[in-house]
Amino acid sequence: MPRPRVFSGIQPTADSFHLGNYLGAIRQWVEMQDTYDAFYCVVDLHAITVGHDPNRLRERTLLAAAQLLAAGLDPERCTLFVQSHVAEHSQLSWILGCLTGFGEASRMTQFKDKTQRQGVEAATVGLFTYPVLMAADILLYDTDQVPVGEDQRQHLELTRDLAQRFNNRFGETFRVPEAYIIKETAKIYDLQEPRVKMSKSASSPNGIIELLDDPKVSAKRIRSAVTDSGREVRFDEEEKPGVSNLLTILSALTRRSIPELEDAYAGKGYGDLKRDVADAVVEFVTPFRERTFALLEDRETLDGILARGADRARAVASEKLRQVHDRLGF
Ligand code: ADP
Ligand code: NA
Repeated sequence: MPRPRVFSGIQPTADSFHLGNYLGAIRQWVEMQDTYDAFYCVVDLHAITVGHDPNRLRERTLLAAAQLLAAGLDPERCTLFVQSHVAEHSQLSWILGCLTGFGEASRMTQFKDKTQRQGVEAATVGLFTYPVLMAADILLYDTDQVPVGEDQRQHLELTRDLAQRFNNRFGETFRVPEAYIIKETAKIYDLQEPRVKMSKSASSPNGIIELLDDPKVSAKRIRSAVTDSGREVRFDEEEKPGVSNLLTILSALTRRSIPELEDAYAGKGYGDLKRDVADAVVEFVTPFRERTFALLEDRETLDGILARGADRARAVASEKLRQVHDRLGF
């Protein structure tokens, strides 16, 4: 039996990934390399749906790839590539766009959320059709499973609908992918506002742990994390969101269970917990940063890895697009 195929993408829209990206997504990607035939993509085409600076995009695409490799993606065990290097993504996206209803696309709640502040008039058509490009990403590779968070569920439903619609109209062509809800995924909250998700766009500087930041800065942010006026180290997301978030981070980084940690902190205080979380974060980010910076220094190797990844992806994608063109009468 061939291993099931997964496809997952991440946008190069920040210089550094944050701890939520790592514990909630990237670490699972690393763990899935051996049990799945995994395709991982730095989705730079998605990153231009909002205004961007070309030099920064180039830099961030490399930073994203280097961080994914530093986190443990192994180009021998997965296919890691950059979306724009495989032109088939744009090509299939156009075709799928012609199968997507305007009303159907208008119902995507993420577009509504993202345009709430400035209004739809200020948005690009690319932001509107973002989910269609995402469908193309997934369908080009006969993907069985797509690791997605709750926020991407509706986009995956659209992907499934488009695959079925194409198959019904033009003949069996696309595999209909399933959502893969990652088990035991750590959801990490803002250190200053522990009821809000840690996020590059919404978090204040002191609320976020960026993996490429100076570890001293990260340690300091953890020591200043918001807790509560109690003193008991106990996991209780309702009453103690700050302490619970710190326990989640420590549990994820040390792979010790939450009950085990609660026992270990019996009779100890928040200061002890924060010190240990800070130590665990520093222990993780120190070699991670070194690996990332070493990869960025060696551009030839990094470019080579991405070129080979793109070749492998293109071999699959071009065959699928050829079938699609044939079905459509091109
Ligand atoms: P952000 O929310 O910072 O903009 P993205 O939306 O680019 O991050 O997310 C990239 C990946 O990281 C997604 O798979 C997302 O589910 C995951 N992720 C982002 N923030 C968190 C978080 N705070 N906790 C867990 N996972 C997260
Ligand atoms: Na996302």
